[in-house]
Amino acid sequence: MCGIIAAASNRNVGKLLVQGLHKMEYRGYDSAGIALHQKDQIAHLRTLGKVKLLEEKMIAEKPKSKLGIAHTRWATHGEPSEENAHPHKSNERVYIVHNGIIENYLDLKEFLKDEGYSFSSQTDSELIAHLLEYFLSKGNSMVDSMYLTKEKLDGAYAIAAIDRENDQNIVIARSKSPLLIGIGTDEFLAASDPLAIGQLTNEFIFLEDGDVAELTSESYTIFDDTKQKVSREITHIDISNQATSKGEYKHFMEKEIYEQPDAILNTIDGRVGGDDVLENIFGLGSSDIFQKVKRVQIVACGTSLHAGRVAANWFSAISELPTQIDYASEYRYRNPHVDEDSLLVTISQSGETADTLAALRYAKEKDYLSTLCICNVPTSSLARESEYSIFTNAGPEIGVASTKAFTTQLAALMLLALSLAKSRNRNPKLRKRIITALRSLPDTVQETLKLKDEILEIAPEIASKDNALFLGRGIFYPIAKEGALKLKEISYIHAEAYPAGELKHGPLALIDEEMPVIALAPESEIAEKLVSNLEEVKARGGTLYVFSDPSISMDLKSGRLINMPKCDFLLTPIIYTIPLQILSYEVALLRGTDIDQPRNLAKSVTVE
Ligand code: F6R
Repeated sequence: MCGIIAAASNRNVGKLLVQGLHKMEYRGYDSAGIALHQKDQIAHLRTLGKVKLLEEKMIAEKPKSKLGIAHTRWATHGEPSEENAHPHKSNERVYIVHNGIIENYLDLKEFLKDEGYSFSSQTDSELIAHLLEYFLSKGNSMVDSMYLTKEKLDGAYAIAAIDRENDQNIVIARSKSPLLIGIGTDEFLAASDPLAIGQLTNEFIFLEDGDVAELTSESYTIFDDTKQKVSREITHIDISNQATSKGEYKHFMEKEIYEQPDAILNTIDGRVGGDDVLENIFGLGSSDIFQKVKRVQIVACGTSLHAGRVAANWFSAISELPTQIDYASEYRYRNPHVDEDSLLVTISQSGETADTLAALRYAKEKDYLSTLCICNVPTSSLARESEYSIFTNAGPEIGVASTKAFTTQLAALMLLALSLAKSRNRNPKLRKRIITALRSLPDTVQETLKLKDEILEIAPEIASKDNALFLGRGIFYPIAKEGALKLKEISYIHAEAYPAGELKHGPLALIDEEMPVIALAPESEIAEKLVSNLEEVKARGGTLYVFSDPSISMDLKSGRLINMPKCDFLLTPIIYTIPLQILSYEVALLRGTDIDQPRNLAKSVTVE
């Protein structure tokens, strides 16, 4: 999703701004642009497509500047095009970049048209440039103009702006969209994502909603919503090069799949001791709060929601708690009834997903006992706004398709199931069994990664098809859904998931030799029933690819049976996820798609 970077420096900033845009490419975007202050004029370059093209334009035009703003755009209002790309400008004077959505843009456009402004894009963002210019032209300072502009805007925004008549200052503002300041050496930076400037500093200031700040190469000043000067905490984050480069791998997604043993170890490390989970791993006082919990409500989106669906089974089996789960984008609109002593759990890799954040904010107005988030980014809005949290410690996930974030979310959710059970004095023997299994989970994941060679043999068969079905039962149904999501988003093959018992209620009509069926068949009390469901597929000429426990015997006419490593049943969903990730990756590689940045998708979805 859109990315902002800005720099006020004593050196030429063009290159560092473009490097920052490259670092944000993983978020997903369709166009890019830059505005560079050059004393009496502003160099304004925009391109449709990859940042590389903008870079080529920069190399050709060689603009020099010590003050600039840049942006990657992910279209919301108006098609992807050069005209709609940021920065947007007003009267060749004010240039702005914006993340978020301005909800009252139609009214504001009318107001500005009446004031004589004309629009050259279809975006909601362009009006911000005009509003700022409108207030500047009336003699207001940059900061005052930003406050006057803010008063008119409804919606979510992170903004960075420069004025041709001021070659020293950048003004930035935040409301509901992430924005931070980076303290560099002889320079100050701003960005929507710490990764964009992680090469230049490890000191960050996360702005709060309503904040406006002014940056020069010498200093920064932050004002709060009421225009009072404020000081905000400096956070130290070391974003090493290693974490943000592909190393020996072709894609970030591939690297992130193979990082999972370490990532899962990092999630569990320091949180279990002896035969149980440690106290208060979700924050001080969490163990006491958990004693009172009578019900859990989960909200999340996409892959994170699938993790929640698995966890709902764990909360029932291990913590003995009923759990309701909702798409974050739907939750607020179904007028949810909140039972007494309910715990709201949000799950998000980025912690900036607008729907999940909006659901949390809505829930905070309701009678929840408490709010808790499972998140990979400790500095995210979700983490800061939840009462309790646990970080998955997976390291930066750059590939748009979530892999290590998902399996570490599952590991963290298992810790939550165990902590709730412990506080509620439930199932001590089961807890002990799971803790033992958790300790060996990184090794089991490592062993599972060795299935790559077998998967490479089936990948061409799936890559040649247009559709695929994924089947799983019980706790494996969400894993089948995750497998289907992974395949569709990176290979563009249409894929659906069903609980295997549902096949005969409709989807069986789709089965023929063109429909590969990928099934998850662990050893379980319903394994026999699943095998019968798969026989139904076989009888209709469908090609089966079955990931199964060695104890399950099936005579396949075509397709393949792949034996999975042994693992405690409750943790097997994590293990069975791995081959599905590898399969999607290898299929997408064969189909030549843009694996790390699939079309139309964004890593961090900061619009509702
Ligand atoms: C799919 C994927 C998305 C995200 C979803 C929520 O591979 O990554 O479905 O899971 O956009 O994002 P987060 O977890 O950042 O809230």
